[in-house]
Amino acid sequence: LDNGLALKPTMGWLHWERFMCNIDCDRDPNNCISERLYMQMADVMAKEGWKEAGYEYVCIDDCWPSYQRDAQGRLQADPKRFPGGIKKLADYVHSKGLKLGIYADVGKKTCAGYPGSLGYYETDAQTFADWDVDLLKFDGCNMDWTLLGEGYVNMSKALNKTGRSILYSCEWPLYEWPFQKPNYTAIREACNHWRNFNDVYDSWSSVKSILEWTASHQDVIVPSAGPGGWNDPDMLVIGNFGLSHAQQESQMALWAIMAAPLLVSNDLRDICPRSKELLQNKHIIAISQDPLGKQGYRTVKVDTFEVWERPLSKKRLAIAVLNMMEIGGPRGFFLRAVPGWKICDPQCNLTQVLPQYKELGVQTPHTNVVVSVNPSGTALLTVTPISGDFTGLSELYW
Ligand code: GLA
Repeated sequence: LDNGLALKPTMGWLHWERFMCNIDCDRDPNNCISERLYMQMADVMAKEGWKEAGYEYVCIDDCWPSYQRDAQGRLQADPKRFPGGIKKLADYVHSKGLKLGIYADVGKKTCAGYPGSLGYYETDAQTFADWDVDLLKFDGCNMDWTLLGEGYVNMSKALNKTGRSILYSCEWPLYEWPFQKPNYTAIREACNHWRNFNDVYDSWSSVKSILEWTASHQDVIVPSAGPGGWNDPDMLVIGNFGLSHAQQESQMALWAIMAAPLLVSNDLRDICPRSKELLQNKHIIAISQDPLGKQGYRTVKVDTFEVWERPLSKKRLAIAVLNMMEIGGPRGFFLRAVPGWKICDPQCNLTQVLPQYKELGVQTPHTNVVVSVNPSGTALLTVTPISGDFTGLSELYW
């Protein structure tokens, strides 16, 4: 969507995967969906390096509103859980130098059964603008699929009409795939990012299924990604309970390769230092946010390894080598087997970003570099060509 936003993949925090629809503030005041949760996340984001690392949006997901619209037909926040209202919350988040995201649904009801926006697109867009909201996640539950496209486009227009810059996050293709191949040109014109596949869960099998879906549809989805519009493989679940550290490294590396929005869903107030360090790793974030804005893709499977590559600015290349073997110890992988290794002709500079940062120095097409990759982990590298006459990757890639 050409609204000047999401020129790089969006970074922030989103409540859903970790906090879901916990509305029981009497029993669980610390973790229920309430203004307090977002204020505390904003505090931590501003204080503990998240904002400096690039994480900017604090995002509300489902279960924030009252079951009833007000007398003017406007959505209202649940008064018990959001006593100050959304406008005050937005002011608070802005006072920390951050931005606020909110959630609504294109159909009659949200996925959790709260009021949907069908019939109220202009009213709701205006309400969000009046509250100074900066991002809208627009879900696709409870909507006739033949009307999905029209609904998403109309909300995009309604947001534009408010005159406020509101980043627009869609789930349009996810709800359309079961019926027909989505029109990614139209989706890119209307949205700043779009979900294609199932919700992420806190497990390696979920992350793997998202990677497999993405790789097997890459011919269709990769060309549509670029500054202003991105494929969204859903939240980062790093810092929760279900992934080993190697698996967390794989999610972080592959989300950077996929030029995915980096929306973390975890408890920033209580996160293991290693997960925090991984999420704030500036070398990985630089790959994610690379100004060329091209999405990477899976290039080959070799033995138990998958190789993913992402073209970067200045003719550089990011390479992720994922070890799908879930038994045994670290396994060695010969980098010469990587298709993009061609850019190392006559010479290149090689840097390993994961599992440890290491300058691996100048290489040639013939040097025998072996990287060691943990089970279900990833080695992430960048290659910088050294050559006056190197013409680029265009013949190799889209
Ligand atoms: C859908 C979306 C999720 C989340 C829930 C909320 O499942 O895909 O990301 O927003 O609804 O109910």
